[in-house]
Order: sequence, then C-alpha cells, then structure tokens
Amino acid sequence: MTRWTEVFIMALLGAAVSIGAGCSKVDAPEPEPPALEEVAQPDLPATPFGYSEMEFPQNWLNDPALALFGGFSEAVDITDAGATLGRVLFHDVQLSSDNAVSCGSCHQQQHAFADITPGSTGISGTPLERNTPGLFNLRYQRRLFWDLRVEGLANQVLQPIGHPDEMGMDLEELESKLTSLPYYPPLFEAAFGDPAIDLDRIASGLVQFLRSIRSYQSRYDAGIANGFADFTASELTGKDVFFGGDTRCNQCHSGLNFFSTQPFINGLEMDYASAGDAGIGALSGAPSDDGRFKTVSLRNVGLTAPYMHDGRFADLRAVVDFYSDDIVHHPYLDERFSENGVGLPGQEPYRLELTELERSGLVDFLHTLSDTVITAAPAFSSPF
Ligand code: HEC
Ligand code: HEC
Repeated sequence: MTRWTEVFIMALLGAAVSIGAGCSKVDAPEPEPPALEEVAQPDLPATPFGYSEMEFPQNWLNDPALALFGGFSEAVDITDAGATLGRVLFHDVQLSSDNAVSCGSCHQQQHAFADITPGSTGISGTPLERNTPGLFNLRYQRRLFWDLRVEGLANQVLQPIGHPDEMGMDLEELESKLTSLPYYPPLFEAAFGDPAIDLDRIASGLVQFLRSIRSYQSRYDAGIANGFADFTASELTGKDVFFGGDTRCNQCHSGLNFFSTQPFINGLEMDYASAGDAGIGALSGAPSDDGRFKTVSLRNVGLTAPYMHDGRFADLRAVVDFYSDDIVHHPYLDERFSENGVGLPGQEPYRLELTELERSGLVDFLHTLSDTVITAAPAFSSPF
C-alpha cells in the first residue's frame, strides 16, 4: 500500500466516525460534511519531476534584454517538492468555493495555460472582462495582469482564489479546507519540512510551479540553431515582415521572449475609457495611459486565441489585418505606428497595406513560436 492510500484511508475512517456520531443524535438531516470519498486524489509520480533542474538554455541566459528583465523579477528557489505541491494546487478544484473551478479551468495546459473563450467564466458564471493570458516564462514578468497592477507573482497568485467571479473562496477558510484534505499535509511537509498549511506556503507552492513553466522549445528556437533550414517560404516571409521593414513588431515584442516589460497603446480604440476598459489609464487617471496595456509575449500565440486584452480578435489573421489596415488614431498612439516610427506619440497611424503573401506569412511565422513541449509535459499537467 502506498503512503498516499494509507493517508487517505485513515482520513476516510476519521470522517466515517464523525458522521456516525452526528447521525445517532438527530432525525432531521444535517448539512453534509465534505464527502471525502468524492474528492479526487492526485496521482503523483513516486519520484517527483525534476523541477529544480529545469533551466533556460544558455542563449536565453545570455540574451541582453532578458538579462535586464530577469533582474526585475524576484528570486525564487524552486524545489521538486515545492513545485509538485504547486502543480496539485494549480489543478485542484478544491481551491474554489463550489469545488468546481481550478486555476487550470481557465489556464489550460493545451493552450499554453490560456483560455480559448474571450470571457472566461469561474464559479459565478459571469464572464470576466479580460482575456485569460497564457502562463509561461514568468521569471520575466515583474508586473502581472493586463494593466500591470500587481508587482510580484507571490502577490498575485492568491487573488483569483478569493475573487468572487473566479474561485470565490474565503481565504480565511482555505487553510483549514486544505488541512482537511488528506493529500495536502504530506505535500506541505515534503515542501516545507512540516505539514502546517498557511497562505504564504500556498502562494509559494503556486509560484514555484508557475515559475518552472519555461517555454523555449518552438520551431523558431530550432530555427535559431539551424539557420531556419526547416522554415517554409511563407514562414521566412513572415519572419522578414516581423523583424524587418515598417511593421516594427519586434521593437515592442522583443528579445527571445517576444515581449516588453513596458506597456504600450497599440491603437485598438480612439477612446478606451468610453469603450469600457482604459487599462492602466483606469488606475492612473492619466489621458496618456488610456488604453495602455501590457505588451504580452508572442510566444505560443498560435495556441492562445482569442487576442488582445478583451479577446476581440478571434484569430491571428484578424490581428495581422488590424496592424496592417485598421490601427485607430489615438491622442497617445505609440509613435512606432506612425509613418516614420519616431517622434511624439499621437501621430496619424501608418497603413502598411501588407500583401496577401505578407499577411499569411506573418500568421505562419507567429505559429512557429508555439512550444508543444510545455503543452504536453506531464510535469505541468493535471494530476487529478
Ligand atoms: C475564471 C478564470 C480564471 C481562473 C479560475 C484563474 N485565472 Fe488567472 N487570469 C484570468 C484572467 C481573465 C486574467 C487576466 C486578468 C487581468 O489582467 O485583469 C488572469 C491573469 C493571471 C495571471 C497574470 C498573467 C500575466 O501575464 O500578467 C496569473 C499569474 C494568473 N492569472 C494565475 C492564476 C492562478 C495561480 C490561478 C489559480 C489560483 C488563476 N490564475 C485562476 C482568469 C482566471
Ligand atoms: C508599440 C508597440 C507594439 C508594436 C509595434 C506591435 N505591438 Fe503587438 N501588442 C502591443 C500591445 C501593447 C499589445 C496588447 C494590447 C491590448 O491587448 O490592448 C499587443 C498585442 C499583440 C497581439 C495579441 C497577443 C495576445 O496574446 O492577445 C499580437 C498577436 C500582436 N500584438 C502582434 C503584433 C505584430 C504581428 C506586430 C507587428 C505588425 C505588432 N504586434 C506590433 C504592442 C505592440
């Protein structure tokens, strides 16, 4: 008998004793205590996955942009037991008040931990206003959310658990709920040396797991190593359009992670506040921040449709058509979208009028950034 089964059966026995004692006294049915036999058990490998040994390859560690951004995010010690705990927490519906929603319900592994519906729904069924982003390479994300409102992953990970539309859990009850589930005390003991469960440890487990999701194994990365020998003509065209010429895509979606720590206004609306979501502008109140949003990484973008903070574009072709033809004038539109690409913000938007081959090439190129290693890795999958 494995240690897991032993622990589980002992907990079942404990539950049976207390249910029996309750029943002998009352006729009217009492609210049922959590039925432990209905709680799914995590199925974990006997030897934990080697999360602590996973690292970015040397070219990432040497990338000047990434070295700079990496310096911004907090240092995290990842242990195999800590990330294993995080894997269970991330995929466990017991972290929600109705035992039906986990982080993984919205952040789905096969979509690089994004959601493919524009308004994800949690326990309340009310669609969230913003598009669920993918989760990977979080070492390089000092500030989280589309409006960068939270600094540090450890300060972010408990928020969805308490959010009434996401997981709706009273954080004060979370510690005792997890303590009552037989599989958690041993997981916390393995991670922290004793079985005590508190919010800091829950956050630490989640952070260790999320920080271990590193995405650097796409066809594009293979291309860097082999001179893009396997790229199709269309993918090569798209690569030229992305990195060269007038699009300036790589000036914002830059470095090996195809992102920026700086937020920008990319001309989706003339007046974002009136359209319903001013992004950073809603926090700062500054007109120059109206519609300023996080410059998300384009890694795995082929897996994470729909696109933009509100999921307005259903596919990459729609995004490319937007950048080519439809950028809207905004008083603080980023200058990279003007004819010359320099000067003050708020200039007339350029009209690239990309050819059909350039458009489909750009879409094909963006698909080469998909990393099917992270979407399939058992180490990141649901153990339930
Ligand atoms: C109901 C859907 C839903 C659930 C459940 C959910 N999230 Fe999210 N998550 C979102 C949405 C939507 C956003 C973007 C919100 C925003 O930017 O305002 C987000 C953003 C994030 C981000 C920021 C990513 C970035 O690049 O800025 C992290 C990290 C994250 N979630 C982790 C988690 C964790 C950990 C859990 C479980 C404890 C979780 N989420 C549960 C929908 C969800
Ligand atoms: C001035 C900086 C800037 C430039 C130049 C730029 N982008 Fe963006 N991009 C952004 C920002 C900021 C967002 C998020 C905007 C939002 O959601 O409101 C974004 C979003 C995207 C998204 C959606 C990602 C997702 O996960 O939802 C794609 C795809 C994209 N850009 C591709 C491109 C391409 C292709 C080019 C070149 C034609 C380009 N970008 C040029 C700043 C820029």
